[in-house]
Amino acid sequence: MDALITAVGLQKYFGSFHVLQDINFAIAKGEVVCIIGPSGSGKSTFLRCINQLEKINSGYVTIGGEIVGYRRDGDKLYPLSDREIARQRQAVGMVFQRFHLFPHKTVLQNIIEGPMGVQKRARTDCVEEARALLKRVGLAHKAEAYPGELSGGQQQRVAIARALAMKPKAMLFDEPTSALDPELVGEVLSVMKELAASGTTMIVVTHELGFCREVADRVVFMDAGRIVESGTPAELLENPRNPRVKNFISAVL
Ligand SMILES: Nc1ncnc2c1ncn2[C@@H]1O[C@H](COP(=O)(O)OP(=O)(O)OP(=O)(O)O)[C@@H](O)[C@H]1O
Ligand SMILES: [Mg+2]
Repeated sequence: MDALITAVGLQKYFGSFHVLQDINFAIAKGEVVCIIGPSGSGKSTFLRCINQLEKINSGYVTIGGEIVGYRRDGDKLYPLSDREIARQRQAVGMVFQRFHLFPHKTVLQNIIEGPMGVQKRARTDCVEEARALLKRVGLAHKAEAYPGELSGGQQQRVAIARALAMKPKAMLFDEPTSALDPELVGEVLSVMKELAASGTTMIVVTHELGFCREVADRVVFMDAGRIVESGTPAELLENPRNPRVKNFISAVL
């Protein structure tokens, strides 16, 4: 497999708490991987390590063949500067449970902020692209609205458009629908389905097993800081080998 993102022997501690215990993972370009598992198993921390929001204690992550956070010279690794880290972090777009939009900026301003401010791209291009992205997430008519005027599902779709505006190589989703009212979950999932169908590389932490079944190429089950089982949705969801996976799935359904 030609992997876009890999994690090799990833170890992460919070003080003496061993939150990620030897995580080995790879995702190919265009692949969709869903991560499921009980609360506290380390799913968010794993995504945050990929995106360099957390420091890794040992092991490493690569994105597009580059080790994140370090520069290799011979067989030595040297930490990257903050500027280099900021550049690398643009390779992945992240969507959180809460949308984190700027409340005092319009939807359009929220979307162009990164491409203009961070990537220094021309305003006219950024605006044109932001409008195309808004159309893609079904919100062309909300460009001039403020986040507070939108429903949670609409805000989350703006957050997805904002992440896509940076042209990331991959998108990471951390329970993107779990803060939404049930009737708003579907509109966000359908945007994510469209992204998946159009070839976006995606890692999705979710409890939406229907989405996993329909969209994921692979499902990974994490428990207590480890990847316990992984497989196709059919293998893992219909016929799990590990009893912990079985228990979890029957509890969620
Ligand atoms: N900054 C931190 N400092 C100390 N412990 C932390 C920190 N962040 C997370 N943890 C702990 O690490 C463990 C894994 O947390 P994480 O948020 O990655 O779990 P999760 O699988 O995403 O859970 P959930 O399904 O509830 O979101 C938990 O026990 C959590 O309390
Ligand atoms: Mg989490």
